[in-house]
Amino acid sequence: MSITYESKRIANLPPYMFGKINQEKLEARQRGVDVIDLGMGNPDQPPAEHIIEKLCDVAHDQKVHKYSASCGIKHLRRAICEHYEKKFSVTLDPESEALVTIGSKEGISHLMLAVINKGDAVVIQDPAYPSYIYSIAIAGGKMRGISSNTGDEFIAALKKLPSRKIRMVVINYPHNPTTQTADPSFFTEVVAFARKRRLIVVHDLAYADICFDGYRAPSFLQAKGAKEIGIEFYTLSKSYNMAGWRVGFALGNKKILKALTRIKGYYDYGIFTPIQVASIAALRGPQECVGEIAETYRRRRDVLVKGLNNIKWEVSLPKATMYVWAKIPPAFQEMGSLDFSSLLLRKGEVAVAPGIGFGKNGEGYVRFALVENEYRIRQAVRGIKKALNL
Ligand SMILES: Cc1ncc(COP(=O)(O)O)c(C=O)c1O
Repeated sequence: MSITYESKRIANLPPYMFGKINQEKLEARQRGVDVIDLGMGNPDQPPAEHIIEKLCDVAHDQKVHKYSASCGIKHLRRAICEHYEKKFSVTLDPESEALVTIGSKEGISHLMLAVINKGDAVVIQDPAYPSYIYSIAIAGGKMRGISSNTGDEFIAALKKLPSRKIRMVVINYPHNPTTQTADPSFFTEVVAFARKRRLIVVHDLAYADICFDGYRAPSFLQAKGAKEIGIEFYTLSKSYNMAGWRVGFALGNKKILKALTRIKGYYDYGIFTPIQVASIAALRGPQECVGEIAETYRRRRDVLVKGLNNIKWEVSLPKATMYVWAKIPPAFQEMGSLDFSSLLLRKGEVAVAPGIGFGKNGEGYVRFALVENEYRIRQAVRGIKKALNL
């Protein structure tokens, strides 16, 4: 009799759509191809020097190598609350309204386990950051995807969904992968709707600081009454180039945070203390580095968008995020985003993320992540031109 090694919980997960391209990328590299990788949203630059120095200094202290606190050290929770006060004029209590997570991915995934019951519906925008899809499935929830191009369309579609069993709405602006942005009035409407229908709202503000041309991303917690029904995730991954450090925050409603704190207590012992102390240095130290990071992505965005438009692949300038979301040119629409991405890789030596990997409504698109320098992005455009015979 054969042994089954995977639980039904993971065996029944939706397929991982980036696997094929990742495998092809690996094989191309093994053949010596210099692939320009614009696939994953993985920042290519280091954090500011003062943050790294703080990590190294603190790591020499003999007392910091024990297990840390699952909810995060008190001073880091205070630092994120000060940051929210300064940046968004949102007042939070560090004891009950702020929690440190091991990046927002961990926080969001455990949140689903902490609050979703089997069969509960969770509404997300489709396409979406794939972790939402997987974490809802792992928790036994049912994903309800909304396809929308604007906040108004999202609200209209939300209002039309049968409310029975909907437990939670997950939103994410600036949005990965479409780069859509939201304004404060959208959050106000979401709060009003959620209060009326007694829903939980989770806002993922992963691209809070990657904004361009004067646009500033609002916090969901700025909306009146937001704390009564929801929480927001904030992360140091993109704002401070600290993706590998795994530092995020859940902020807002006390009861939701209590449930998340409780489940995290069963799973983890908190982030390595020197990383948490260095995260305080990030939040309280000089903030020029944040603007410089956004400026680097802005320059890359301009090079990519201009380059693609020059070869007659029409794409528009995103106002925020580290991505360009591009509709596949008409002549290649039929082949679908997986095969199209594969073509760009084989013939252009450029890796992109196929839109289908973000949900069924992502089909027909690919996502470029701005994680290579301007020189390499120009080279990528030449590769694309060659691959598509443009
Ligand atoms: C929308 C969104 N949320 C969360 C994350 C993960 O953030 P973290 O590094 O804090 O886990 C990403 C990463 O790309 C993202 O795009």
